[in-house]
Amino acid sequence: MLKKSLKDLSVDHQKILMRVDLNLPLDPEGVIANDHRLQEALLTIKYLLEKDCAIILMSHLNRPKGKFESKLSLKVCAQRLNTLLNKEVKMAPDCIGEEVNTLKESLKCGEILMLENLRFHSEETNGSGEDFAKELSKGCDIFINDAFGCCHRNQASIVDVPKFFPQKAVAGLLLEKELRYFQDYILNPQKHLCAIIGGAKISTKIGVLKSLIQKVDTLLIGGAMANTFLKAQGRSLGKSLVEDEYIQAAKEILKECESKRINLVLPQDLLFTDQISSDGQTQILGINDPIEEHLIAVDMGPLTIDAFSKALEPSQIIFWNGPLGICEIKPFSYGTQKIAQKLSQINAIKVIGGGDSAAAIEKLGLQDSFDHISTGGGASIELIEKGHLPGVNALSNKD
Ligand code: 3PG
Repeated sequence: MLKKSLKDLSVDHQKILMRVDLNLPLDPEGVIANDHRLQEALLTIKYLLEKDCAIILMSHLNRPKGKFESKLSLKVCAQRLNTLLNKEVKMAPDCIGEEVNTLKESLKCGEILMLENLRFHSEETNGSGEDFAKELSKGCDIFINDAFGCCHRNQASIVDVPKFFPQKAVAGLLLEKELRYFQDYILNPQKHLCAIIGGAKISTKIGVLKSLIQKVDTLLIGGAMANTFLKAQGRSLGKSLVEDEYIQAAKEILKECESKRINLVLPQDLLFTDQISSDGQTQILGINDPIEEHLIAVDMGPLTIDAFSKALEPSQIIFWNGPLGICEIKPFSYGTQKIAQKLSQINAIKVIGGGDSAAAIEKLGLQDSFDHISTGGGASIELIEKGHLPGVNALSNKD
């Protein structure tokens, strides 16, 4: 990596400002539903504790519109961190201001302070965050960005804060690990690479698909996104989600896959329902069967599961992003689960691009059979699409 990383600096007894991604999913009662991102941040936090640093953590949680919302306080994350480390985590009332500056000043080596949600201030996201970033950086010696999941955002804590730490704005251990997996295995694959791309909309994945077809040997497209490709091939899909304005783009991708001899696998059969709810009447239909006007495709069928499973077998590296059906509704999550199980048995380097595919794997308890489950769905897509991220570009160059 051309950017400085934590291990390039001597951090002993320093006061560290660390951007983490603690944008954790909360249930309706405000309880953390999944703490994968916090668990992953422990790598750097524990390293800094060993070096007797004073650690100031900052993050956003969800999307408050620039004002305080008690249900989006980072207190819940501070408490969980406290439990995981069995160590006090002090909670600041805000992320900037006099009171926060005093807390920062009095923070001793070996102690941890959590700043309050950055997005309670509109300057974090509104593109004019330099003064806000200056305030955030006050009283700290070194800046560490360990928030891979936010590195695609041009936001103050990501791109402006590093300006106040010349030569001392570095990548944390998690960010370094994330970049290594994507650089070595997806952006520059040296072996047979297969990508599984799912999700609802081709419009959000068009860039990553265009980039992936320059790199993959096998491409499996599932989820509602596949409908647009099937329609581009002349199939009718009833009332299923299709983005008509992307049919031309789908046609171009199909053509390029053919000219590059990519093994492209699209659904061969689908589970259809008459309503998007677990009470719906379902049936499996082949893509060449007549599809009644009112039917909606919600999951892959058994022929597709088989075709995907077979296509995965020769792969040496596998990247997966996006669910292959409507996973929030249990009867429509079968295909995603079967592919997660199949992947867990395959001997390849397996990288999961965060989001719903990661959640499916965690739900099945299969995490240990994957090499890397990314903490950034959006960030990993943008990294593959563009080859770089604003949050990484903003860090100090290696000497
Ligand atoms: C994420 O959840 O992908 C990151 O935390 C970024 O959050 P955002 O999409 O609200 O910017």
